[in-house]
Amino acid sequence: MTDNHVRIFDTTLRDGEQSPGATMTLDEKLLIAKKLEDMGVDIIEAGFPAASPGELESVREIASIIDDSEVAGLCRTREPDIEAGWKAVGAAKQPRLHVFIATSKLHMESKLKMAPDQVLEEVRRGVAQCASLCSSVEFSAEDATRTELSFLKEVFACAIDNGARVLNIPDTVGYTMPQEYTRMVTEIMRDVVEPANAKRTPEQGDVIVSTHCHNDLGLAVANSLAAVAAGARQVECCMNGIGERAGNAALEEIVMALRTRRDLLGCETRIDTRQIMAASRLISQTTGLHVQASKPIVGRNAFAHESGIHQHGMLKDRRTYEIMLPEDVGLTESKIVLGKHSGRAALQKRLEELGYSMGRAQLDAVFEKFKRLADKKKNIYDEDLTTLVADDVFDVPARFELLDVAFSGGSSDEPRGTVKVRFDDTEHTCEAGGNGPVNAVINALKQCTGSEGVTMEDYRIDALSGGSDAQGSVRLSISEGGIIAHGRATHIDVVMASAQAFVAALNHLAYQDELSKRRASGI
Ligand code: KIV
Ligand code: ZN
Repeated sequence: MTDNHVRIFDTTLRDGEQSPGATMTLDEKLLIAKKLEDMGVDIIEAGFPAASPGELESVREIASIIDDSEVAGLCRTREPDIEAGWKAVGAAKQPRLHVFIATSKLHMESKLKMAPDQVLEEVRRGVAQCASLCSSVEFSAEDATRTELSFLKEVFACAIDNGARVLNIPDTVGYTMPQEYTRMVTEIMRDVVEPANAKRTPEQGDVIVSTHCHNDLGLAVANSLAAVAAGARQVECCMNGIGERAGNAALEEIVMALRTRRDLLGCETRIDTRQIMAASRLISQTTGLHVQASKPIVGRNAFAHESGIHQHGMLKDRRTYEIMLPEDVGLTESKIVLGKHSGRAALQKRLEELGYSMGRAQLDAVFEKFKRLADKKKNIYDEDLTTLVADDVFDVPARFELLDVAFSGGSSDEPRGTVKVRFDDTEHTCEAGGNGPVNAVINALKQCTGSEGVTMEDYRIDALSGGSDAQGSVRLSISEGGIIAHGRATHIDVVMASAQAFVAALNHLAYQDELSKRRASGI
């Protein structure tokens, strides 16, 4: 074992985005990537570039703004995948190619239709191609935990021989258990990694083992920690534990477990844990995937003490019922309540406490929105602030500008909505009915903007904080001609929030359409 630094490999933007309903816009991905870098994530997996030209472009853009973390692009062992992967991450300050192929009998026979020898040849060729392009190559044996161990060792040895520096052992379907995974990692360390490292020069550096666990049986974090105890030095994880199906190991749980039980595991990460809450809020806001109240570390109740006995103990000595300090994960009780009399300095201080450091121009923009909100809402909570910050960077050119919204209805009247929208330098007003005020206003917007062909794919509404003055946060997705666009808005009036979110999505749609026309004509 070479060191006690556990590299945090965040795959929120790749495996996390595979969570049903979690697609993010490019602006959202850029903001998340920056946050992950600020937090100290060692490797950011930015996407799967061969998936589509849009995905390649978005990985490339993420790669271009990140300095302090490696940026990884996932690819299959196929030649065009690796070429796309390199196109996307090649210009990063610290690029990584992450290449994978399935190695379990089931996957090889049913999915790949390849014999073990063919898979070995793919590993040899794919890893060698990656290594000819990039000095940081990671190889993953998909469905490793259901792979025959002797074959897995052969595959990993081949990956090292052809230039892989990181060997990832994915528990692709969340099937393994800590004892079993410990045995697997221990054997791979003993029979493959340590003998290979004994022959490597200091310039070549050590090969390290990585863990990538899914949570189908609720064991992703336990399995990842078992792998670390057995010698793994990279953990692949997602913020809030999002990811394919039941999700991936939760970054915040891994990091805080390693920190809290350093006495037992003797390992550390580079993560600035005080930024965890801000990152968690950002992810749940951008993906629309809510964090359950009892979720460890970042859930609303994770540091709340309800029972009298616990409260009594806490007042005497907080260590009686608290193994971590809320401040250590960025959960700070604000001493000042923000409202309409609060100034720029108070806002900036609270934003910094929440983990947002921003330049003057961005602070000005957020402050202006803050003042507008404070005119309508007495107390501004942390959730409101996170939304203001996030909304600020998601602006796309506004083809449609929403000028006015009115609606009427009641228990015996048909709901009607009237909207005024400006586009092409002209104001348009339309009125329509619907099965409720939101539906009526959306119908009026469709009419007004000539968007009758637009389909509502998803619509969600949430209260941002407790209390009847909570802001309503609306996230929706629309589609037209195969293009999907997302819109979000927050407002104390949920009909307004819906109308604004719909117009934001229309603007995204128009923008994407314009971008694809520009790309097609080579501009
Ligand atoms: O779960 C998995 O096997 C993966 C690999 C592609 C690393 O996500
Ligand atoms: Zn995965």
